[in-house]
Amino acid sequence: MLRCDLQDLTLLLPSTYKAELFKHHHNVLSVQVLLNIHNNEVVVGIALTEESLHRRNITHFGPTTLRSTLAYGMLRLCDPQPTDIIVDPMCGTGAIPIEGAMEWPGCFHIAGDNNPQAVKRAASNICSLLKKNENKGSASLGVPLDIVQWDICNLPLRTGSVDVIVTDMPFGKRIGSKKKNWDLYPACLMEMGRICTPGTGRAVLLTQDKKCFAKALSRLGHIWRKNHTVWVNVGGLHAAVYLLKRTWERVEEKRSFW
Ligand SMILES: C[S@@+](CC[C@H](N)C(=O)[O-])C[C@H]1O[C@@H](n2cnc3c(N)ncnc32)[C@H](O)[C@@H]1O
Repeated sequence: MLRCDLQDLTLLLPSTYKAELFKHHHNVLSVQVLLNIHNNEVVVGIALTEESLHRRNITHFGPTTLRSTLAYGMLRLCDPQPTDIIVDPMCGTGAIPIEGAMEWPGCFHIAGDNNPQAVKRAASNICSLLKKNENKGSASLGVPLDIVQWDICNLPLRTGSVDVIVTDMPFGKRIGSKKKNWDLYPACLMEMGRICTPGTGRAVLLTQDKKCFAKALSRLGHIWRKNHTVWVNVGGLHAAVYLLKRTWERVEEKRSFW
């Protein structure tokens, strides 16, 4: 992290960014610049707000609540289109679907978790958000988001009915265990492959248990193809965000929950 003179910085920036920068920093002389250097690639981050946005929209926290900023980045990676159905099957406190509903209101978001406490927290976060909007006086149509209690291995969703899956999987540290992940990860990829539309569906998945994920993905390579990996730091842990594309392979419908 370095601090940089605002005037010098504007010399380096295209005009659209200059306008944005001055809008947020009209009475300051220097701003924070973050350079993320990886091999021959540099990502330049410039603070546009004085207050951090990593907790926006979240009021009820759980043991592994994801930063809203990371949730936003994950959603953006799968390029949501209007009318897309976007599912977070392991939503915890709901950081991903809440960010999705706020930033992509033209999509419909469905989220669930097998832990009733997590579902309760996610519902409380949505209620707080609705109240905040009410207090601001904005005419509210609610949020395009449903939260359900379910098991990811047996989702009550039709085969091929979902466009996008974005989720933060248990790392096996604070939630679950590395041992359980060896069964959970392949089962997750299989069930996510069933509900996702063949050919066009995509998934963005975050995990720190990279070894287990790689093994599960190699077993299910006929259903999911890995397109891109982004390395991220989650509370000091070196984690990966995988962008997967659904292949055309059909997956048989399971009816075990009827
Ligand atoms: C890393 S946490 C997700 C945290 C979430 N992104 C947040 O912001 O709170 C993983 C979640 O997966 C859930 N989970 C674990 N096994 C599951 C299963 N079989 N079905 C559904 N959810 C499951 C856990 O309860 C936990 O909330």
